[in-house]
Amino acid sequence: MHQHHQRFNRLRHLLCAGVTSAVLLGMTAGVAQALDCSITLQTDDALRFLPSHIVVPTQCKDFTVKLTHTGYLPPLAMSHNWVLTKKSDLDGVARTGMLAGAEAHHVDQTDKRVIAHTKLIGTGETTSVTFAVAQLKAGEPYVFLCTFAGHSPIMRGTLSVQ
Ligand code: CO
Repeated sequence: MHQHHQRFNRLRHLLCAGVTSAVLLGMTAGVAQALDCSITLQTDDALRFLPSHIVVPTQCKDFTVKLTHTGYLPPLAMSHNWVLTKKSDLDGVARTGMLAGAEAHHVDQTDKRVIAHTKLIGTGETTSVTFAVAQLKAGEPYVFLCTFAGHSPIMRGTLSVQ
């Protein structure tokens, strides 16, 4: 009887430890998710960003966008960049980016409507940009686009701050 009681106590102790660990793990995962201040966007030979929507947590001081290109077409035919602007500035930024040319990574450095941008990358390349979240407003609709020749009408996504 005494032995049985001891075994029960040990089992109860193990169960308690298990529950405590699960709670702690859950909390840690929750915090890590809330403070994820970066995202990886995949591109290839299709004119798209995956994913095509980014949510930037307001708690982040800075946010990093990493861009990858896993396509096969040569850079002259299929390069990509990532340019962030307000939805209302989309057409203007697409135009100045297109005119800026490949040497300028298809970004006009004098265009104040460009909030953040990466360089132009070709197949197999990766790049990233980090920007201050404070310059973005919650509730404002933002868009991102690729300004490489002819891509901007299709290659776009949306970004919001929450
Ligand atoms: Co592109």
